[in-house]
Amino acid sequence: MKRIIVANWKMNLTLSQSETMLARLRANIKKPTSNVVVCPSFVSLNSVANIIKSYSDAKLFTGAQNINEHDEGPFTGEVSGEMLQGLADYCIVGHSERRNIFGETDETIAKKIAACFRNKIIPILCVGENLHQREEGLAKRTIMDQLEQDLSEVTNEEVRNIIIAYEPVWAIGTGQNASPHDVEEVMIEIQKYLHNKYGEAVATKLRILYGGSVNADNAKSYLDITYCDGLLVGGASLNYQEFAKICQL
Ligand code: PGA
Repeated sequence: MKRIIVANWKMNLTLSQSETMLARLRANIKKPTSNVVVCPSFVSLNSVANIIKSYSDAKLFTGAQNINEHDEGPFTGEVSGEMLQGLADYCIVGHSERRNIFGETDETIAKKIAACFRNKIIPILCVGENLHQREEGLAKRTIMDQLEQDLSEVTNEEVRNIIIAYEPVWAIGTGQNASPHDVEEVMIEIQKYLHNKYGEAVATKLRILYGGSVNADNAKSYLDITYCDGLLVGGASLNYQEFAKICQL
């Protein structure tokens, strides 16, 4: 199944709340039309990963929200790919909150993607323009620059397994979702970029998601876009009924 829906729980839910949320999701997602990736906090990751494994449900996966670019060492408070190996199938990399609040640069993001591949984790690379860049007509250029730098350390073999999430920064957590038409335009540009750089086989295999104020009412309008292979959902993923609806569209 190509379509993928990612739940980014961000810094929400305690361990017991995460376990309850997962159980509710499982009970409510009866006929998933997508693979579903749940990204809890690091505190809950081990437990969520083990519960998901015990379900032996082919459509449910675990993702991390961050990874350090090094595999071990004196990096207080950080979590490495080696630690995540076997727990996280996926990892969100380059989320705008990490870029803007924690100062992550494209150079670091490229290294984090390499760390994912070293540790057999599929990166979900987030790219997107801020409001100023959109208003100045710089959205596409910003995204292409991010792709060029963020993918600079991956091999042609690895790149086909990356997932790219287009997330306009101004649409994240604001309730101001991008129009499907604008999203489609950007996705076409991303496709063109991938096609030119890596060839048709990679461009057609690689998955592109949309994220930014997705909810059960607007999700289908994005999933209907030809190049859209799924969604990255923040706020609405904390409501199990709403998220379960999105996973069954
Ligand atoms: P949102 O978050 O759905 O709450 O806008 C999306 C994201 O941060 O990935």
